[in-house]
Amino acid sequence: MPPRLPDAVEHWPPDRLKPYARNARTHDDDQVAQIAASIVEFGWTNPILVDAEGSIVAGHGRLLAARKLGLDTVPVVVLDYLTPAQRRAYVIADNKLALNAGWNEEVLAAELHALNGAGFDLALTGFSEAELDALMAPLDDEAEDAESAGEDADDDMPAPPREPVSRNGDLWKIGEHRLLCGDSMDASSVARVMNGERAALVFTSPPYGNQRDYTTGGVGDWDALMRGVFTALPVTEAGQVLVNLGLIHRDNEWQPYWRAWLDWMREQGWRRFGLYVWDQGPGLPGDWNGRLAPAFELVFHFNRKARKPNKIVPCKWAGHVNDAHGGIRHKDGHVGEWTHAGQGVQEMRIPDNVIRITRHKARGIETEHPAVFPVALPEFVMRAYSDEHDIVYEPFAGSGTSIVAAQRADRRARAIELAPEYVDVALRRWRKLFPDQPVILDGEGQTFEAVARARGVAIPDD
Ligand SMILES: C[S@@+](CC[C@H](N)C(=O)[O-])C[C@H]1O[C@@H](n2cnc3c(N)ncnc32)[C@H](O)[C@@H]1O
Repeated sequence: MPPRLPDAVEHWPPDRLKPYARNARTHDDDQVAQIAASIVEFGWTNPILVDAEGSIVAGHGRLLAARKLGLDTVPVVVLDYLTPAQRRAYVIADNKLALNAGWNEEVLAAELHALNGAGFDLALTGFSEAELDALMAPLDDEAEDAESAGEDADDDMPAPPREPVSRNGDLWKIGEHRLLCGDSMDASSVARVMNGERAALVFTSPPYGNQRDYTTGGVGDWDALMRGVFTALPVTEAGQVLVNLGLIHRDNEWQPYWRAWLDWMREQGWRRFGLYVWDQGPGLPGDWNGRLAPAFELVFHFNRKARKPNKIVPCKWAGHVNDAHGGIRHKDGHVGEWTHAGQGVQEMRIPDNVIRITRHKARGIETEHPAVFPVALPEFVMRAYSDEHDIVYEPFAGSGTSIVAAQRADRRARAIELAPEYVDVALRRWRKLFPDQPVILDGEGQTFEAVARARGVAIPDD
């Protein structure tokens, strides 16, 4: 039998429509505002579906948007032939079937780039700023400079698994490093991963985007997360704490979402010791809703005691010997001892406060990939503000970049990650990079492979 086609689109006053009491789909104020903005921009493109009694089958969000816009009528298609069971099922299917579609991210990114270039307001596509930021990482050709500057094979990483091997509470020993699957707000988890030691350095990138909950009228959850994690910091008295945060724009202005947290840190005795710019290399092309293309994030540096950074950047004039004609002269023209006359220029110098390290070009949205560091970034911070064999603490381990960096810099990482999927990513990444150094589960002493077998989970081929 051919499928039924609607006979007509009717125009109903909004009050004639009855919301379905058992609708499982939710619409928060922000999403309703997005639908309303879309109706204003594109017109009404998708009629509300109702049953024979005028009860909504699909389109609760559109009805809320129509009310917000003060519309007198809305387009409606009546599905009076549905049985009660069909109607009940279709309320779910109408939403779920659309969610099951995927994205060709290459085409999507190219379309968004083109719209952005044409000056179209990308917020009308329904993607959040964080998603757009991830999607619009430089296109291949724009990233050429970055690539020629040197790709880092250690930045490759596997996709998160559907079914992870790791479980909450697992403590993995990875060579000289330790990674706990748990919550870094929880003092007992922190104590477990630290095993009585304290860190000389913390470098981390807290979650952002979805965790910064502006829809409920603030960033309460984010502040609570930050306070929880930074209350429990297991650092020495001279410990240095560096935190990477990116800009967030909302309502056409950038949000100082870190303000309450910065004040709170200061109340806890953490001085705002330094503020650095992480220059990420080629940013988004063209303008970004009227702004210049974003290409940097910030690194906030806190401490209770100052510590000199290590000299880790090669000097341009290394080895060059200052002679009587070089260096700084006194008023009478002579060059004194303190101006290093007769001495070679030192090999290494202290880095400057713009950290120039290229960010990965490709970041997906389907995988909800956390904003991943290039390994070179935590490695740089570790080399600058800790010494060999020092312990470095990473409360938001994500895909384990800091563990790889610690290995490269000969530091010992103590890391915590909440999501078992990302703990697995970190472990698989490690296995691939350092296959001769086993990953062992604390307590049972089994390898990652043995634990996977015991738990009946297959480790994907990487
Ligand atoms: C921005 S990502 C970090 C990415 C990391 N820098 C990397 O290179 O992969 C933040 C991570 O923090 C994790 N996270 C969020 N809340 C947490 C908590 N309370 N305890 C531990 N990890 C948490 C998230 O699951 C996410 O993987």
